[in-house]
Amino acid sequence: MNAPADLSRVIASQPDATLGYKDFELGAFRFRRDEYFAHIQWNTRDGRPLSHTMDAANFLRALMRDVAWGFFYGGVNFDHVFGTTNHYKTVDMYAGTYNATLKAAGVDRLENFPTEQIAATFFAMLDDWTNEGFDPFAAPQETGTPYGRKRGNNTPAITRARELAKRCVGMKDDLALRTDARGTPVNRAFADVPQEEPELHPEPGFEDEVHAFNLFAFLSRSQVTWNPSFTSVVKYSFMCPTTEEHILPIIHANDRVEWFFQMCDEIHWDCADKTTGKPLARVIMKAGDMAAMPAYCRHQGYSPKRSMLLVWENGSPNLVHEIQKGEAPEVPVQF
Ligand code: PHB
Ligand code: FE
Repeated sequence: MNAPADLSRVIASQPDATLGYKDFELGAFRFRRDEYFAHIQWNTRDGRPLSHTMDAANFLRALMRDVAWGFFYGGVNFDHVFGTTNHYKTVDMYAGTYNATLKAAGVDRLENFPTEQIAATFFAMLDDWTNEGFDPFAAPQETGTPYGRKRGNNTPAITRARELAKRCVGMKDDLALRTDARGTPVNRAFADVPQEEPELHPEPGFEDEVHAFNLFAFLSRSQVTWNPSFTSVVKYSFMCPTTEEHILPIIHANDRVEWFFQMCDEIHWDCADKTTGKPLARVIMKAGDMAAMPAYCRHQGYSPKRSMLLVWENGSPNLVHEIQKGEAPEVPVQF
């Protein structure tokens, strides 16, 4: 009997003698970084080598989300060529598969890996390629440069725990409120956000059941961007608010309907067909607007100022299969 493959094994080169970065290999894909770029190389289905180049900052910001979110819901496009699709035990990694032009030219490539295997390679690459002072979760104005030769690392920033409430922020044995003392000061863009907490008057015996908190104050103290946390969870209904500034570093390809509620300021969304990339819509969301992203779209947001966005997810593990079988709709309402 063959020994089971060690899925945590990462194939990496020695650090480059001049630049200091390692190269990585996963399946037929090779990854290399230099001072400004990440280069992805693969063999096309007929065995020819092809390469694709991304700005190192954009690549690392996208890689950070894929790693931290465990490959997220459905597709995480790093750009119009490269990305991953989550099948929840395995993950597809692809180049050109969801780009109508590359697909038609037959130069695309898709490979499927056990989640543990791709996660190990992606984490090692993120850690090796992230320099001291660069935080892939921070807004560009709030972090140092990702460019240049290898300088140290920023392992604390890339291993932050994801903030996931079990019931609701601030309840007993649950995610704590953010405070100065916990190292989460109010962001420069939210200095005017009131910080008072609501009064609670539960009947005796219901102190751990009746709850409320100031969500605006909680979000004003977020240290990161484009990183939804769970603030309340009711069965599979996950409230995932987040603060946004600059560009969502991935183009998310849904496998279910997602709702957006713009809580302040504004975000502009580009929406496209998730399979071909063909543009579908521009959605300009201003404070108070709500929108739903259908399960057949991919979307990327642009937030000119730091803003607050509530993302509402249906976390049911069956939903993706129900949609594939046509038992659940791809759109939130049918007229
Ligand atoms: C999304 O893809 O729907 C998404 C991801 C991260 C965010 C906001 C929206 O911060
Ligand atoms: Fe999304």
